[in-house]
Amino acid sequence: MLKRHFTALVSLCCLLLVSAAGCSSEPQEPLVPKYKTGLAKNEIKNSAFGKQFPAEYKTYQRNTLADETAMRKTETKYKASFAFRKNDDTNPPMLGKPGAGQPYLKNLWLGYPFSFEYNEARGHTYAVEDILEIDRINRYADAAGLPATCWNCKTPKIPAWVEEFGDDKFWSMNFNLFRTKDKIDPKEHTIGCANCHNAETMELALYSAPTKEWLARSNQDYNKLSRNEKRSLACAQCHSEYYFNEPDHGPARKPIFPWDNGFEPEDMYQYYKTKGKKQGDGFAAFADWVHPVSKTPMLKPQHPEYEFWQNGTHGAAGVSCADCHMPYTRVDGKKKISSHLWTSPLRNDEMINNSCRQCHTDKSVEFLRERVQFTQDRTYKQLLVAQDTSVLAHEAVRRASEWQGEKGPDYAARMAEAREMVRKGQWFWDLVSAENSVGFHNPAKALDTLAKSQQFSRKAVELASSATNYEIAKDLEGDVRNMVPPILEWSRKLQMDQANLDKHVWTRYLKPLPKAEQVWDGQERKQPMKTSDAEKAVPGPLSALDR
Ligand code: HEC
Ligand code: HEC
Ligand code: HEC
Ligand code: HEC
Repeated sequence: MLKRHFTALVSLCCLLLVSAAGCSSEPQEPLVPKYKTGLAKNEIKNSAFGKQFPAEYKTYQRNTLADETAMRKTETKYKASFAFRKNDDTNPPMLGKPGAGQPYLKNLWLGYPFSFEYNEARGHTYAVEDILEIDRINRYADAAGLPATCWNCKTPKIPAWVEEFGDDKFWSMNFNLFRTKDKIDPKEHTIGCANCHNAETMELALYSAPTKEWLARSNQDYNKLSRNEKRSLACAQCHSEYYFNEPDHGPARKPIFPWDNGFEPEDMYQYYKTKGKKQGDGFAAFADWVHPVSKTPMLKPQHPEYEFWQNGTHGAAGVSCADCHMPYTRVDGKKKISSHLWTSPLRNDEMINNSCRQCHTDKSVEFLRERVQFTQDRTYKQLLVAQDTSVLAHEAVRRASEWQGEKGPDYAARMAEAREMVRKGQWFWDLVSAENSVGFHNPAKALDTLAKSQQFSRKAVELASSATNYEIAKDLEGDVRNMVPPILEWSRKLQMDQANLDKHVWTRYLKPLPKAEQVWDGQERKQPMKTSDAEKAVPGPLSALDR
C-alpha cells in the first residue's frame, strides 16, 4: 500500500517542500561565506587547510578507516569502503565480499591493464596509496609505464606539474617519475581541499583540465553556474568518463571528456568514432585497446557517475551529488557543516537519515534503503546477463574468424559489423558496470543501457553465425560458462609465463610479456634502473604495450 503510493507521496512531499523549503532545488543552508584564509594561492597540503577548518577536516579524516571492524561497518548490499576485488568472490585482497563479484571482468578486459587488477573504490584519503599498489600501473618493468595522466584524479598536485612541464608534455610523461617520496606525500597530497576549493577564499573552484576545457568548449562560464551545479561539477572533475588524447588530436595522453554530442551512451559512442589514430592501423575510431580474442578495437569506460546522475530522477530534479554524499551534519552538538566523508549514504541508519531524509521526511530509513536495493537488485541481474552476452559475442567472432568451412555471403562485411556490435555491446555493459551506484543514480537509463548492450551483443552473435552459414550456431547454444570459463586469476606476472597463457582458451591469444622483476613497491624502488630503460622512462610516446 505504502509502496504503491510512493511516487505520488514523494511528489506531494516535494510540492509541500518546494513551497515550504524547496526540497528539489538549491540547498537550504545559507551561502558559504567567502573566507579570508591567509593560505597561499597555491597551497595544496590537506593539513594546512585542516588547521583553518578543523570541523570539516575532522569529517575528512573519517575517510580513512581505523581498523577491520570499522571497515566491515561500511558494507552495504553491493558496495563497501574496502578494496574488495570486483572480478571474483574467492580471492579477496583484504576481505571478501561474497555476491558482489562479476566473474567475467578479466575475460572482457583481456589484453588491457584493467584485467590485471580491479578493485572496489574506497575513501578519497586512500587514492594515492591505492594507485601505487595496483597491478594495472606497471610495477614490473620500467620501459612500459603508464602516462602521468593517471595522476589527474588522485591529487591536487596536477596544476603545479602541468605548469612545470607544460601542457603539451606533462600528460604523456612516465607515471613513475612522479611516484617517489620527494614528489608526492600519500596523505598530504591525496585528493583533498585544493581539488575543490580556492585556497584563499574556500569558494568552490575547479582544478581539473578536462572539466574546465569542456565548459569552455560548450560556452559555459563557471562563475555564472548555479550553486548546485558547482556542487556537482566539483565531483564531475573525477567521477566521469574520460579518455586519453591521441597525439593526432592535440597534447598526447591529455584527459578529455567525450561529451561534445551529449551524455548518453550512444552520444559518447558516436563521439569516439572520429577520435582515433589518423594513421597506422586504420581505425578512424578511438580504441583503448584491441581485444586479442575477437580482434575488436575496444572502449573502456570509467565511472560515469556524472553522466548517469544528471538526467536521473534526482539529477533532473536538481538534487546535487553533495546533497546525498555531503549532507549537513552537526558537529560538537551545534555547528552545521557539510560532511566531508564521501561514501555510500546507506552505510547506516544515521547516514540515511542525514542524507535522504532531509527531503524524504515522510519516509522511514528502512523504506528508503529497500527502494534503493529494489533498483540495484534488478540492475545487477541484467548487468550479469549483459556481461555473459558480451563474452558470447567475443567467442562467436573468434569462432567465425577461424571458421575453415564454406563462408556465408558477405563474410568480410558481416565480420566487420559483428566486431562493431561486440565493441558497442561491451561499451554499453561496461558503462553500467563502471558506474558506481548499481543503477540508483538513474534506474531507467541503467536498465535501458543494459537492454541495448544485450541487443548489440546478440546482434554480434547473429552476424558472426551468419558469416559461417550458421555452422557455428549450434556450438554457441547453452551456458556460456561451459564454453568460456571465467578467468579468475590473472596478473602482469602470470602473463610473463607461457605455461599460464596455455591454461585457458582465451589467454592463448595473448603474447607473453617480457620477464621482469617487480621494480616498484609503493614509493620504493626495489631494482636500480637500467640505463636503457631510464631512457625509455623519460617523456616520450608510449608503445603499444603500455595500454
Ligand atoms: C571533492 C570536493 C571537495 C573536497 C576535496 C573538499 N571539499 Fe570542502 N566543500 C565541498 C563542497 C561541495 C562544499 C559545499 C559548498 C556549498 O554548499 O556551496 C564544501 C564546503 C566546505 C566549507 C564551507 C562550510 C561547509 O561545511 O559547508 C569548508 C570550510 C570546507 N568545505 C573545507 C574543506 C576542507 C578543509 C577540505 C580539505 C580537508 C575540503 N573542504 C575538501 C567540496 C569539497
Ligand atoms: C580529484 C578527483 C576526485 C574528486 C574531485 C572527487 N572524487 Fe570521489 N573518488 C575519487 C577516487 C580516485 C576514488 C577512489 C579512491 C580509492 O579507492 O583509492 C573516489 C571514491 C569516491 C567514493 C567511494 C568511497 C567509498 O567509501 O567507497 C565516493 C562516494 C565518492 N568518491 C564521491 C565523491 C563526491 C560526492 C565528490 C564531489 C563532492 C567526489 N567524490 C569528488 C576521485 C575524486
Ligand atoms: C539522491 C541521492 C544521490 C545523489 C544525488 C547522488 N548519489 Fe551517489 N549514491 C547514492 C546511493 C544511494 C548510492 C549507492 C550506495 C550503496 O549501494 O551502498 C550511491 C553510490 C555512489 C558511489 C559509490 C559509493 C561506494 O560506496 O563505492 C559514488 C562514487 C557516487 N555515488 C558518486 C556520486 C556522484 C559523483 C554524484 C553526482 C554526479 C552522485 N553520486 C549523486 C546516492 C546519491
Ligand atoms: C535534496 C532533496 C533530495 C534528497 C537529499 C534525496 N532525494 Fe530522493 N527524491 C527527491 C526528488 C525531488 C525526487 C523526485 C520526486 C518526484 O518527482 O516524484 C526523489 C525521488 C526519489 C525516489 C523515487 C524515484 C526513484 O528514482 O526511484 C527514491 C527511491 C528516492 N528519491 C530515494 C532517495 C534516497 C535513498 C536518498 C538518499 C540517498 C534520497 N532520495 C535523497 C529529492 C531528494
